[in-house]
Amino acid sequence: MSASEADLRPVAVPRTARPQAPRARTMASLRRERDTLRGLTEAGDPTGIERQHGLGKLTARERLALLLDEGSFVELGVFRRRRDEGPATEGRRPHTDGVVTGTGTIDGRRVFVYAQDFTILGGSLGAEHARKIHRVMDLALDGGAPIIGLNDSGGARIQEGVAALDGYGGIFRRQVAASGVIPQISVILGPCAGGAAYSPALADFTFMVRGSARMYLTGPDVIAAVSGERVGHEELGGADVHGGRTGVAAFVRDDEEECLEDVRHLVSLLPDNNLASPPDTPPTGADADPRPRLAEIVPVEPNKPYDMREVVAELADDGDFLEVHEGWAPNVLCALTRVDGAVVGVVGNQPMVLAGVLDSDASQKAARFVRFCDAFNIPIVTLVDVPGFLPGTGQEHAGVIRHGAKLLYAYCEATVPRVQVILRKAYGGAYIVMDSRSIGTDLSLVWPGNEIAVMGAEGAVNVVHRRELRAAADPEARRAELIADYRERLMYPYRAPEEGFVDDVIDPADTRSAVARGLALLRDKRREPPRRKHGNVPL
Ligand code: HXC
Repeated sequence: MSASEADLRPVAVPRTARPQAPRARTMASLRRERDTLRGLTEAGDPTGIERQHGLGKLTARERLALLLDEGSFVELGVFRRRRDEGPATEGRRPHTDGVVTGTGTIDGRRVFVYAQDFTILGGSLGAEHARKIHRVMDLALDGGAPIIGLNDSGGARIQEGVAALDGYGGIFRRQVAASGVIPQISVILGPCAGGAAYSPALADFTFMVRGSARMYLTGPDVIAAVSGERVGHEELGGADVHGGRTGVAAFVRDDEEECLEDVRHLVSLLPDNNLASPPDTPPTGADADPRPRLAEIVPVEPNKPYDMREVVAELADDGDFLEVHEGWAPNVLCALTRVDGAVVGVVGNQPMVLAGVLDSDASQKAARFVRFCDAFNIPIVTLVDVPGFLPGTGQEHAGVIRHGAKLLYAYCEATVPRVQVILRKAYGGAYIVMDSRSIGTDLSLVWPGNEIAVMGAEGAVNVVHRRELRAAADPEARRAELIADYRERLMYPYRAPEEGFVDDVIDPADTRSAVARGLALLRDKRREPPRRKHGNVPL
């Protein structure tokens, strides 16, 4: 092994093993030295790579090769490493400092990337490692291109103390500065422990891979030491925990290949930055493309369940859409797709889960999605079929008022084109919140069987006519009469159109073309947000 090979290994090597400058320097020998160093750094440590593969994980460079267009990756800072500070750093100065950073393209569009390398010091974040990440984040923000971080790290590098913590702080500060300016995607492919977990939490979208990704503030050992509670890594902070219970992960995938493929899919639906238009494709001719199946998917009976994903597939070009937070709060559906070539964010109630009611988690999920779409010029299509907010002490005490307000706030604030389609029912506060005319939708369409009301007929009659029913000779017969009367006068499908709360009553089969027309007519919508430092969203 040559001296330079030894110095690249992420293990203890004598300081004397640093590469020595050749005595007689020629450009050829300098080039050779550079190529050797680069080649060895790029090749990595075979033992570490073997261990990484043994854990079922790919290396940082293999991951970047899957993520980026072939041959597009340009590495930055390949030679960067810790300063030589004598015995304390002896043999602990691998090149790259445990993170591969640079830029490349996805479908020809520029992105900036960093990939933590677990084979070098456990991918732990030291000062140089952090500075490299800071640099690509700065370049991404200056250049107006998405930033994608592939996380696989033991967290703050213990030996570097406060410098490591400072490095994380620099990442978080940059993430907040970049929020709403460039898309930020975090991909968790191994451990992401301690405060490091705040980076994915600040990102717009976080991916996790089942079995290998884990994220928590305090790991199982600390928990056991502090409280005696015994819990495994996966059970504490595995992909399904964050994809299904906490909502930190927007996407959960079975393996790294599928995960990185879907990161590419996501990027293909996002604009480069907040000043750019989304990557629309040429119109597909939605006008001449009726969808009769829609009337078969959605039963006329207002309480019969169906899968809103089937509706989205009918509206989407090629039936293709990317669902966000599929496993968390599935009673509301959020998805990115294209309708007649135009990228849109779809928010829909999901009658298959909890009858499609809104609750705390669903409100938070949809609110964050609406705010993302608004920040990045993505029009919003809202598909409404909602019986109301979920009643009960559980929800009230969980703060459904505060969380519901987030969704209300997000819609009220959104200045992108907004199209609302009411498929069947829309009751009470949930009607208002689901992008009603009153909170600023641009175009409201309803299907012929719609029911829009403060509450259902039975509940309404019991409240309004309680005294009369108590005194009635035949309360049940009278109740039936009052219910029929309420339905006829307050819930008939043309009441909202007559009063101007909706713009049109459409045939279900024409929904795709009507939405496409609506988006086309709203394409040039311009509305400036009010001048203020920022609103006080009920966080
Ligand atoms: C320095 C670290 C390290 C760290 C791992 N390594 N984590 N070195 N600082 N934080 C090193 C190990 O010493 C080892 O080096 C190599 O990486 C591989 O680690 P292993 O433990 O052998 O791997 P594995 O068994 O797979 O376990 C991975 C692990 C474990 C679960 C991540 O290493 C671990 O628990 N690490 C500590 C996690 C942690 O508590 N981090 C700090 C969190 S607090 P050798 O030389 O033996 O190969 C934090 C604060 C951030 O991050 C604050 C931001 C606000």
